This record gives sequence, structure tokens and C-alpha cells, in this order.
Amino acid sequence: MSKFQAYLSQFTESDWLTAIAELLPCIHEVDRNAVQIWFRFYPLSLQRYIEAVNDPDETLRGLAMQGDFDLKDQIDASHHFLYGHRYWPKIKRKIEKEAMEFKNGEPALVEIIKDIAMRVSSKLNVDRHLVNGIAAVGLMTFNQVGEEAFRAASGEVATPTGIMKKSPEAIVAERAKDDSQGVFGFLKTVDKKYSVAFSGTKTKGKFQIISNEEIVSASQKDRSQDWQAADQRCWEGPVPIECTSASCGTCWIGVLGGMDKLSDVNHRERRAMKVFGYNQPDDERPFLRLACQSRASGNVTIVIPPWNGVFGKKVRGNVDELELEPATTSAKHLRETIASSASGE
Ligand code: FES
Repeated sequence: MSKFQAYLSQFTESDWLTAIAELLPCIHEVDRNAVQIWFRFYPLSLQRYIEAVNDPDETLRGLAMQGDFDLKDQIDASHHFLYGHRYWPKIKRKIEKEAMEFKNGEPALVEIIKDIAMRVSSKLNVDRHLVNGIAAVGLMTFNQVGEEAFRAASGEVATPTGIMKKSPEAIVAERAKDDSQGVFGFLKTVDKKYSVAFSGTKTKGKFQIISNEEIVSASQKDRSQDWQAADQRCWEGPVPIECTSASCGTCWIGVLGGMDKLSDVNHRERRAMKVFGYNQPDDERPFLRLACQSRASGNVTIVIPPWNGVFGKKVRGNVDELELEPATTSAKHLRETIASSASGE
């Protein structure tokens, strides 16, 4: 293990999240939620737990893992929803260089993130606030996948399309806007219609949502494509679902824009997120949600993680005395996993 890898490996998930919290004022608004979401989509504690077990396949079945959860397979793509994604080739190269030149020393995590970002931003002549987030993501990716796999990735990214072609300020403004309700919109009460813009590693688009409707219910009506061809978990609409009742963890999402236009987290969602192991902040309307429990009253922009699982009890050990409502999912294995998590087996 190189000195750089050894240096990074000393930090826990909590150390990383503390560094990100400290870095937030230095991250442009366009990526502020995105960076925090990325660190929840790829939790270090889960990766270390899986790496340490004797029988990973058995463990993955026990955690009801579905989809593409291994960061090694997504080194160049996992951060597709960050504005800073476009700077990835340079960030990747700079981290590789840093790994070769790193001398003994104990710089603070936040300092090394800023240092990498500063050198890339001055080379590219862009605002470093746009680069800090992707620099943090790059270092965590290096930390999780190891130097060899990191170097082996091509480092190529696609040219931004759609809204991501715009300036950071225009993206922020567009995410905040609601669809027009027409000339007589002010007369409408219950039938207002809005949009949910979504992106996943393999899908991207927009579907309509009626005011106060759950995101999954609106997603289920979108039959514009064969969503399952891109993601096995999407058997009805672009948002992966199974139970639609906060019992399986399949429909977790990150909210890039419009957090305040979603309903408050209810008791059921709050408890379920802990069982699943997703690190949902305590806010009433946080950036990590269950789409089947979130009702929208305006436009929202979401990002869909490529995997889901149930690992709260085994990995985080923070699921104590939770009484779950009966699961309605058709997936027997999910039900059993959730039941064993709740009973502490
Ligand atoms: S679909 Fe199962 S938790 Fe939302």
C-alpha cells in the first residue's frame, strides 16, 4: 500500500463527512447537495464491512443488495450528477500524481481536498468552488477502490448535455423554478401539475407529477420507455420500486433541487431509513429521501442511486428496538432481511 493510500485509509466515514461539512461553504451551490448525496450513495463503512467478511456473496445476499453498488465498476461515472463531473479527467490525473509524490505527513483531510482542487482549478482557470466537491469525491473514490483500480479507469467522461450544459448559476435557477400553471393558474387549487427531473447512471428524463402526489406514484405512470432494460429494479417507471410503503429501501433518492417542495419526513420514513442504513440527515426535508414517502408541491430534481440494500443493523448497528409495520413487498428475501434487522439477529 502506498503512503498516500495508507494516509487516506486512516479516516473513518465520520471523518469524511466532517470534512465535507467543513468544506460546504467552499462548494458552489450547484454541487452542494450533490456532494453530500454522493457520500451517502457510496458509504465507506458499508464498503469496509463487505471487504472484511469471509464470504462476500453470502453477505451481499444477507444485506439484500440489488443493483450496481461496487464503486470499482463506476470509477468514472458514479459522480455523473455533479457539475464538477466535467473536471474529472484532470482531478483523476492530479490525484494519481499526488499518490506518487505524497511524503510522510498528516495534513488534515479537508486541506488535501482543497489543495488538489486549487491546483486543478488554477490549471483549468475555473472557480475553485466548482472543483472542491469533485476533488473530495475523487479522493474518496481512490480510497475505496485502491490505487491500482483507480489508475486503470480511463478517466473519460461524456460531454454535459441538457440542463448541465448551462452555467452553474443557471442550473441552480432552473432547479428552483416551477412549471407555469398557465394564465389562470392562480385559480387552480388541487390540480396543479409540476415536473420531476431525474438522472441515474443509465437513465435521465422528466415526468409529470400532480401537486401533493408521491414521487413513485408519478413515476409509475411514465411508460415512455422500457426502464427495466436499463435497470432491472425499474419494473414500473424510472424510479426503482418494490413495496411503495417504506418497507424495502428500493426507492431511495437524492434531492438536488426542490427539497423544500417535498413533504416532511414522516415517522415511518425516518425509522425505515435507519433500518436500511441510508444516512438520512435529521432535517424535516433532507436531501436523502424515500420516493414512495415524498409528496411534491412543486418541481423537484432528483438523482437515483444505482443500488439499494438493507444494512443498518449489520453495518451501522443503530437499529435498536424498531418496530416495523408489516412489509407489503413481494420480495420475500427483502422482508426476511428487514425482519432480521429489526429483531437484531
Ligand atoms: S418502494 Fe419500498 S421503500 Fe419505497
